[in-house]
Amino acid sequence: MPAEHAPSFGRSNGSELRLDRLVKRFSRGEPAVQIDELRIRAGEFVTLVGPSGCGKTTTMRMIAGLEDPSEGEIYFGGKPVVDLSVQRRNVAMVFQNYALYPHMRVSENLEYGLKKRGVPRAEREVRVLAVARMLRIDGMLDRRPRQLSGGEQQRVALGRAIIRTPEVLLLDEPLSNLDAKLRTFMRAELVKLQRQVGCTTVFVTHDQLEAMTMSDRIAVMRSGRIQQFDTPQDIYNHPANLFVAGFIGSPPMNFIAGTAEGGGGGCTFRAQGLQLHVSDADCGGRLRPGDGRQVTLGIRPEHVGLDGGSGDLAAVVSVVELIGAEKYVFLESEAGELIARTNADARLQPGDRLFCRFQRGKIRMFDSTTERACVEPLA
Ligand SMILES: Nc1ncnc2c1ncn2[C@@H]1O[C@H](COP(=O)(O)OP(=O)(O)OP(=O)(O)O)[C@@H](O)[C@H]1O
Ligand SMILES: [Mg+2]
Repeated sequence: MPAEHAPSFGRSNGSELRLDRLVKRFSRGEPAVQIDELRIRAGEFVTLVGPSGCGKTTTMRMIAGLEDPSEGEIYFGGKPVVDLSVQRRNVAMVFQNYALYPHMRVSENLEYGLKKRGVPRAEREVRVLAVARMLRIDGMLDRRPRQLSGGEQQRVALGRAIIRTPEVLLLDEPLSNLDAKLRTFMRAELVKLQRQVGCTTVFVTHDQLEAMTMSDRIAVMRSGRIQQFDTPQDIYNHPANLFVAGFIGSPPMNFIAGTAEGGGGGCTFRAQGLQLHVSDADCGGRLRPGDGRQVTLGIRPEHVGLDGGSGDLAAVVSVVELIGAEKYVFLESEAGELIARTNADARLQPGDRLFCRFQRGKIRMFDSTTERACVEPLA
């Protein structure tokens, strides 16, 4: 939307959000959250992604002020906020189970937070209308929540959060109870909305596709810790460890455990049925030298080419799945099972014998012991 047509309820002065040595312990043993540092730029859209129980909601609740950290500090625009109550932090939240007030009309739901803060009626009306237009719910301001579809209710919940133009907007799986089609639509809407409002946004999902498509940067979490904080592209192309490599991307990256000899310019990777010279260029960075160590080779399904004549690894097709525009080809080899993505026209069937060719430049290497990438990406 061109700026001159943008609704005039004001832009948020989104502020930098910084978590500093933030720890939350619910019981003895490993903390539920342990974040050394997370620095989110003003106006940035950052997604926390990770499996169930990895600490996403707990992190959000600490940012909001609903949960006290056991240790550490949180800064909004450089100001420490841990000692401030929820009301005194300029933060708004939409959670998975957003509850609208059922007895209030849409307009009353939207203006509720403003009214509580003593914003005069005339200004409330202007803002309600502007937010409702932006969310395209201006035709339903007099309805009650039960007279709205799931997607419309979702938009009211979002409207209620952004109407105060918070510094920090927290969204914890706000799309998870929508059907797939509406979810795809709301995903794009939400990103547009966030750009218009400008508030620093932390979004939680356990859907890696949602994280990839929506975010400026993604923080991948596991067991309370951040595994990698990077742009979607860098996370996809240069995963920092085996967990991130396996979590982001669908179907997931193929892994082959083996050994690497040599280094400093390249190595020879060996696994059952496979011997491959991997140069620095082949793995998109500088391979850290080491002799005969245990490594895991990673290659994404779209980088496994299939060839009837020759290639890196002999394989047999076990299953072929047609996924609309492409096919997922499941393969068995001496080095283990692999998945390749091919175009939908590829003529393949179970039992076919062929060769996998790993696209040079796309091979990734991980230390099997530390699970960390053993390639330094070239700047
Ligand atoms: N109030 C609580 N008391 C005790 N343990 C808790 C409490 N809240 C969360 N936990 C624990 O802290 C860990 C992190 O929980 P959290 O809700 O932050 O996970 P999550 O990443 O949001 O997961 P999900 O994707 O399932 O929503 C879990 O092991 C959970 O059992
Ligand atoms: Mg959660």
